[in-house]
Amino acid sequence: MNTSQSALRAQSRLASLADAVHLPCGAQLPNRLAKAAMSELLADPDNRATQAHATLYDAWAQSGPGMMLTGNVQVDRQHLEHPGNVALSGPQPAEHLAQLRAWSSAAKRYGGQIWMQLSHAGRQTSPRVNRTPKAPSNVPLKMGSLRFEPPEPLTGAEVRDLIAKFAEAAATARTTGFDGVQLHAAHGYLFSQFLSPRANLRGDEWGGNLEGRARFLLQTIHAVRQRVGADYPISVKLNSSDFLRGGFDFDDCQAVVAWLDEASVDLIEISGGTYEQPRMLNIAGFETVVDPVTSPTGASKEAYFAKFAPLVRQRLRRAKLMVTGGFRSAEAMVDAVANGVDVVGLGKPLCLAPTAPAALLSGTAVDLRQPKGSARLGPGILGPQSPIRMVRAINALGGSSWYNLQILRLAAGQSPDPRAGFLPSFMKAQKREQAMAQALRR
Ligand SMILES: Cc1cc2nc3c(=O)[nH]c(=O)nc-3n(C[C@H](O)[C@H](O)[C@H](O)COP(=O)(O)O)c2cc1C
Repeated sequence: MNTSQSALRAQSRLASLADAVHLPCGAQLPNRLAKAAMSELLADPDNRATQAHATLYDAWAQSGPGMMLTGNVQVDRQHLEHPGNVALSGPQPAEHLAQLRAWSSAAKRYGGQIWMQLSHAGRQTSPRVNRTPKAPSNVPLKMGSLRFEPPEPLTGAEVRDLIAKFAEAAATARTTGFDGVQLHAAHGYLFSQFLSPRANLRGDEWGGNLEGRARFLLQTIHAVRQRVGADYPISVKLNSSDFLRGGFDFDDCQAVVAWLDEASVDLIEISGGTYEQPRMLNIAGFETVVDPVTSPTGASKEAYFAKFAPLVRQRLRRAKLMVTGGFRSAEAMVDAVANGVDVVGLGKPLCLAPTAPAALLSGTAVDLRQPKGSARLGPGILGPQSPIRMVRAINALGGSSWYNLQILRLAAGQSPDPRAGFLPSFMKAQKREQAMAQALRR
């Protein structure tokens, strides 16, 4: 094959990314690229959306991803992962509904969709927000000297109340122009805590075997479906595994995927990891990583959860499959599609290259590898794969701050700054979080 033939072949393979995706509820995504959920940390002291959300999503929308997920919007103001989270606790005042509408319309201006991710931080609640968080059981996070408060168990009545709160928030998302909702059941947040046999030691109907541990998630889906109607997309972000000994594992994931499929979920997004084991950032935590599946495909080294797709696919009868985590080349994305992935999620790359979807959709190969120097503490022993646990933790926390700084720049109408320093960004983010926590109006 000569050079122009292989270029043409590569371009036609890339064309699969521009295919529309038909969801079981009847909605349709214009293409297979999605902006993954990334906490914007842009809310005001009442945890309401601001003009900055609209500016940010306008910037991302211009390059045409078929769908954008918001960062986690919390359903309980006492359980934020950061004081800058948007929260929808109960019915919202007219001014907030107007801000939410401004956000969704900016995001939809160029023909793509915006879905709202709904969450509750549980025991991963920021201690700056709440020193007595609630969770399934009184099991603290094991994160060395990085302190999170030990949680108190939710009562059965509180669990039921939360189900109603998720349903109410989903209804608000629909009435304010968001095209779908996603329940965040990955990364160690509340649904993920309920699913985990390590974090959920309950003996009542919300705990016990996997069926009991999944009940909170499944009943919430049922309640959300009743509020939003049959024609509205519902997604769930789920861990392939927590990658922790005795935690939620890939067998559990496959069983839950089948239940989600039956429960009218339209799109299941596969991720992995928790604060204790941040595999979603490709970093090992304080414990040994327990990885259940060795890679069957070449591309999965880059897209680290894509290897789960073929087995997850087998459990699906109607829902579509999205995978997020580590996609950096067009090649890995088209390989994933060929292996049964319907939607490819992109997170960090869109903080530095917000126009990448336009290039991908026009058939141009892109290299979304991140600048190595700046988004980490240092190379080798100081890097994300350091043998020193605390160094890995600093890389995980500081790396997120570094990417959030890029989000803040986009939201202020500025260009990303790939040369921003790691430690200055980390310190700035810490100060900002503290100031935002102090400013919260209760
Ligand atoms: C700054 C930042 C904020 C994030 N916030 C969220 C979030 O609110 N909800 C969520 O599900 N995942 C969140 N994530 C994880 C991403 O959605 C994604 O799963 C992860 O970054 C891996 O994908 P990537 O390699 O394309 O970045 C966040 C990641 C980063 C870097």
